[in-house]
Amino acid sequence: MCGIVGAVSQRNIVPILIEGLKRLEYRGYDSCGVAVHQSGELKRARSTSRVAELNTAVDEDGIAAGTGIAHTRWATHGAPAVHNAHPHFSHGPGAEANSASAGRIALVHNGIIENHEELRAELKAKGYAFTSQTDTEVIAHLVEHLYSGDLLDAVQAALPRLKGAYAIAVFCRDEPHRVIAAREGSPLVLGVGEGENFVASDAMALAGVTDQIVYLEEGDVVDLQLGRYWISRLHAESGRFEAQQREVKTVHAHSGAAELGPYRHYMQKEIFEQPTAIANTLEAISSISPELFGDGAYRIFKEVDSVLILACGTSYYAGSTAKYWLESIAKIPTSVEIASEYRYRDSVPNPRTLVVTISQSGETADTLAALKHARAQGMEHTLTVCNVSTSAMVRECKLAYITRAGAEIGVASTKAFTTQLVGLFLLTLALAQTRGHLGDEQEAEHLKALRHLPVAVQAVLALEPQVIAWSEEFARKENALFLGRGLHYPIALEGALKLKEISYIHAEAYPAGELKHGPLALVTAEMPVVTVAPNDALLEKLKSNMQEVRARGGQLFVFADADTAIESEAGLHVIRMPEHYGALSPILHVIPLQLLAYHTACARGTDVDKPRNLAKSVTVE
Ligand code: G6P
Repeated sequence: MCGIVGAVSQRNIVPILIEGLKRLEYRGYDSCGVAVHQSGELKRARSTSRVAELNTAVDEDGIAAGTGIAHTRWATHGAPAVHNAHPHFSHGPGAEANSASAGRIALVHNGIIENHEELRAELKAKGYAFTSQTDTEVIAHLVEHLYSGDLLDAVQAALPRLKGAYAIAVFCRDEPHRVIAAREGSPLVLGVGEGENFVASDAMALAGVTDQIVYLEEGDVVDLQLGRYWISRLHAESGRFEAQQREVKTVHAHSGAAELGPYRHYMQKEIFEQPTAIANTLEAISSISPELFGDGAYRIFKEVDSVLILACGTSYYAGSTAKYWLESIAKIPTSVEIASEYRYRDSVPNPRTLVVTISQSGETADTLAALKHARAQGMEHTLTVCNVSTSAMVRECKLAYITRAGAEIGVASTKAFTTQLVGLFLLTLALAQTRGHLGDEQEAEHLKALRHLPVAVQAVLALEPQVIAWSEEFARKENALFLGRGLHYPIALEGALKLKEISYIHAEAYPAGELKHGPLALVTAEMPVVTVAPNDALLEKLKSNMQEVRARGGQLFVFADADTAIESEAGLHVIRMPEHYGALSPILHVIPLQLLAYHTACARGTDVDKPRNLAKSVTVE
């Protein structure tokens, strides 16, 4: 998703901007660009290929300077094309547009400006020529229009006109050592250096440049100059921008620049890192207690009478799995909602609900907005299960469980998902304990199973060659159906999501009992039906559902636990899972589905780590 890096320094900051973009690259983007203040002019390079190509263009054009901004774009308004790539320039009304070096204002933007059409019409009427279909260009022209010698004044005048979510960074030809940045709804950090200052959409982009980070708050505007910075925000009462003090934190942001090692793709590497990621996530756990989730957790857990889980994508399926655990083990009523639905829905708030957000990135706009919505309705007990300790989600929630999956580069989430499940299982046990549903013996048993998980996962990974054999056949299909029941229905959903995300095969998942109410009509010999078949209480029911498929000539591909007595025969292919794993079985069963999606995508030759149209961290609505 879109990324921003900006800098004001005495040295040439172009290598820092490019390196920053590279660190944000894994989030997904379709074009990139950089603009600097060089020899009294604005210069820029933009590209629809990779940041490495942008770097070559920058070198060839001799772009080097102390002040500049850079951007990776994930298209929302306007196709992925060079003319839509950021930075956008404004040349002033009536000026010849689209010249490479004649602009006065240069601007990058993350987020969406909802009233861009209205502003565009207004600026067009004033003589501004538009060269892109983006909402961003509107802001560049608006700032230019309001500029009369002081960039901060111009940006502060422009911001109240913008509706929507944004983070911006902007500089001006007439003020060589100054960048102004602002945020409202999209993340932005200030990096404080010695005699130089930086801005970025994520501290990770500044790793190795500065570890002195200010997390800008909603509505903050920051004026970056060489030896100083100044933060302000609009005060509703005075109607003026007033100075703000913000804490500078020392942040050891990891670079995200992981080596591929022996793997073909980051996704494959991350699938195989799951035993370590799970072990790391469990490292400090010697017993179950609410305090694993932060100070004050016991009091909150005692007070709550229900759980509301809010998340998107794969994280939503982690939440859907956790619902089964929370209701059966902790006996606490739980609902799971897709964040983008919940935030706009009339719901009945309950102040005694524990609001749990799940997010690998901690920056997903919809999940953050859903959290805000819950809080605005008086639901103050908030907890997040998140993989990034410095993220907005962790800062916004009272309690947190930080998973230790490490940086996940592949857009399709794998190790973040299984570690989320581990965090959510621990939450289940802690709530069960607080509510009197977890005896010492049960706690010891669950802990034993958790500690053995890395070994159990390793054994499942050894199934890879058998999954590869299946993937050849899947690669020739255009549709697939996934079935699961109970605790494994969300796993079937996650398996279908993985397959569609990276192989572009249309895949759907159903609770197996629903088959006869619709999807059975789709079943033919051309429709592979993947079935998640653990040896649990629903196995016999599931076998009946499998018969319904067989009777219609469907091809079953079954991941069956060791002792299920499901044997391969014509039209029924079986891969046997090493062991049945009780309540934690979903964590094992998702792994072959990840491998199936991965190898099918490889067989189809797709860009596995950066699937088309998708982004790793979705910071727009
Ligand atoms: C994007 C990613 C998914 C992820 C979802 C939610 O769609 O591609 O892998 O599951 O966002 O992201 P989050 O960071 O909140 O878990």
